[in-house]
Amino acid sequence: MEENKIRRIEEGLTKIEFPEFDKVSSDAPVFYNPHMELNRDLSILAIQVFQKQEDREINICDLFGGSGIRGIRYKNEIDGVGNVSINDISELANHYERHNIELNDLEDIEVYQHDASMFLRMKRGEFDVIDIDPFGTPSPFLDSAGYCARRNSLLCVTATDTSALCGTYKEPCIRKYNAKPYKSEYCHETGIRILAGFIALTLSKYSKCIEVKMSHSTEHYMRLYLKIKKGSKKCDETLKNIGYISHCKHCLHRQTSKGLASSVEDTCPICGEKLIHAGPLWLGDIQDGEFIQEMIDETENKKINSEKEALKLLNSCLIEAEAPATFFDVHAICKSLKISAPKLDLIFEELENRGFIAIKTHYNPLGIKTDAHIEDIQKILLEL
Ligand SMILES: C[S@@+](CC[C@H](N)C(=O)[O-])C[C@H]1O[C@@H](n2cnc3c(N)ncnc32)[C@H](O)[C@@H]1O
Repeated sequence: MEENKIRRIEEGLTKIEFPEFDKVSSDAPVFYNPHMELNRDLSILAIQVFQKQEDREINICDLFGGSGIRGIRYKNEIDGVGNVSINDISELANHYERHNIELNDLEDIEVYQHDASMFLRMKRGEFDVIDIDPFGTPSPFLDSAGYCARRNSLLCVTATDTSALCGTYKEPCIRKYNAKPYKSEYCHETGIRILAGFIALTLSKYSKCIEVKMSHSTEHYMRLYLKIKKGSKKCDETLKNIGYISHCKHCLHRQTSKGLASSVEDTCPICGEKLIHAGPLWLGDIQDGEFIQEMIDETENKKINSEKEALKLLNSCLIEAEAPATFFDVHAICKSLKISAPKLDLIFEELENRGFIAIKTHYNPLGIKTDAHIEDIQKILLEL
């Protein structure tokens, strides 16, 4: 089985070995992506916070194990973890998962070889945490996650098909997420909202609903941490957060409208041009400030190599919890006004002086989340 040279890496407190490969891709004999270390570090913080909030022993499912790094780190580095189940369809991945469990001298971790959906269907109600970290889209596995998920559990979801969610390619987004994307300057946020909306609608078939605890878009992927609640009434209530974002390409005005089949305006109220609609998507909160603050506090107790990067991202998401949906890209507005961009700090200062919220966003270093309208921002930019 072990024809390739073996590579050993360390993340957090955990050692992992896998067959050497040249390029990170789904063709690697056993998948390992060093660029996902931040994702795994944040997962450790989020699951630890969840465990402390629930104040009970938790059982975790690492649905797409690869080298086993995720499930093994969860058992090794999170307090209050009972059993961890690592699943992967690949026999070779299973071999390294077992090898790495031994390498870290751990007990209470089981390895399974099943299709992810079948595995979740077999294990209904057994997990407190389900981690879905597939190649590309999580979409085909979400029905089974909805069927399997327990009341008050945590669902962690990665999507790497950002070109679909952000609207570079419209049709794949419609096929996979039954939503129309739009490639605006804030398309990464729209993508996260499309993913959250699709998960909420899928889970509602099983009378389960979501509370978004934390979400981020980083490099080539998006990640969501969702608390799962149960009850048809609660579902009906949370689904009121499904709606649309309408965008004017001409003047950059945008507006939201809640409701799956509510009527949306077709013309821009500012300039009269045609509005473009994205959705259905999640217009509810996509950051929970209290949960994120606890993740920040938890960095003190964990050994994570990405600490600086993780704290930067978490602090940004913490502030974003107070912000309205979408954001403005200063350069895009200045380009449309045919002026050069003033200093970002001055724009923030001026917005605040005039009584508006002005918040930075992790999606874009030039982005401003604000309750000011496009006309207010244009006025400030022209004056500066
Ligand atoms: C992106 S990798 C997982 C990476 C891992 N979670 C990590 O953090 O390093 C996806 C894994 O899913 C496995 N896989 C692909 N299709 C699957 C399916 N239908 N059911 C279960 N596992 C599958 C692949 O063998 C691969 O190891």
